[in-house]
Amino acid sequence: MNSNELREMFLAFFESKKHLRIPSSSLIPSGDPTLLLTTAGMVQMKPYFLGEVTPPANRLTSSQKCFRTTDISTIGDHKHLTFFEMLGNFSVGDYFKENAIEFAWEFLTSKMGLDSDKLWVTVYLEDEEAFALWKDKIKIPTERIYRYGKKDNWWGPPGLEGPCGPCSEIHYDFGQTLGCTPIASPEQIRIWEEGRDYAESDVNQPGCHPNCDNCERFVELWNLVFMGFFQNQEKELSPLPAPNIDTGMGLERVSVISQGVRNVYETDLFRPIIKTVCLLTGNKYGEDNAIDKGIRIVAEHSRGAAFLIADGVIPGNDDRGYVLKRLLRRASFYSRNRLNYPPDSSPLLPQVVDSVINQFGCIYPELEINRKHILAVIENEEERFYLTLDWGVHTMELLASEAQKLWE
Ligand code: GLY
Repeated sequence: MNSNELREMFLAFFESKKHLRIPSSSLIPSGDPTLLLTTAGMVQMKPYFLGEVTPPANRLTSSQKCFRTTDISTIGDHKHLTFFEMLGNFSVGDYFKENAIEFAWEFLTSKMGLDSDKLWVTVYLEDEEAFALWKDKIKIPTERIYRYGKKDNWWGPPGLEGPCGPCSEIHYDFGQTLGCTPIASPEQIRIWEEGRDYAESDVNQPGCHPNCDNCERFVELWNLVFMGFFQNQEKELSPLPAPNIDTGMGLERVSVISQGVRNVYETDLFRPIIKTVCLLTGNKYGEDNAIDKGIRIVAEHSRGAAFLIADGVIPGNDDRGYVLKRLLRRASFYSRNRLNYPPDSSPLLPQVVDSVINQFGCIYPELEINRKHILAVIENEEERFYLTLDWGVHTMELLASEAQKLWE
């Protein structure tokens, strides 16, 4: 199934469950000074969850454009992305844990046809209700239900304050052969979690487990958040006017599974962009890890930059502008230094971004409408970066030769 079909199938499924389909909001959160960029599908639901605004319906579904800055330096690995699309269903004071769990399970197993034995679930340490629903209602064997603490199974608030709550995640198992060590039991993980120092890495973990960071066996697929609380800037919790549901499943990750590939860059969401980067730079994908990393960075950052500019961000020295500038400079740096894109060729990134717009413009018309502006901003920034880089290299060479003369 291609990603357009998958996105549509998700939204149509939740429409059949009486949810109102709403469009993605901008990557620039509206009226929320505590948040730099839209990081999750629930961002546009915040005023509904807080009881400040009446929602157009109590059940909503969307495919939301999201951007997370925490992952920029890890981009190029097999799973992290800055920009991604998040599929979500939301209940504003309507259904709660039981329906949220049932809907998610029905979508993954009946609609998508995933093998239920490959799905493992996690719940918050103290969430007996969610544990019982997975065990008794969905009939997941207890060997595949894990309990974790706040780091993994508590979500929100996005920004400095806002709605939050315990969450339950569904993870996909790519198989034992990808595991780092034999699997730890849920009980071993519960004991480890209860005494765990999160400042430490995972070296002391009692075995592989759904949230293991040491291997690629599991991938988190869908997060179901049971939004029951408001957290203020002093980190104090108070109950929300009503319990709500917020779920998030990354389209890129679910496409990996539905398309039977190994990582997001092999899905149809990235293949055409990767192909363009390879054609333009004369590199091959899949033969050399270092080259692959460069190709992924150029593809990923070009995609993210196109969406940021379409929503009104321009490169600058602070806040969102700085995020965009960093993205473009990192992509330019890798294109020249890792992919050997010749300095005297026409700028690379506008050509890559053009292919991004060709691919996503029909789903997100703001890309098509702003095509000329997006390309001009990117071309200008790439040229400025190379001028700065060349000037820096030239100055260093001059200094080195002056220093040499001093020694002679
Ligand atoms: N809001 C749920 C998530 O982003 O995982």
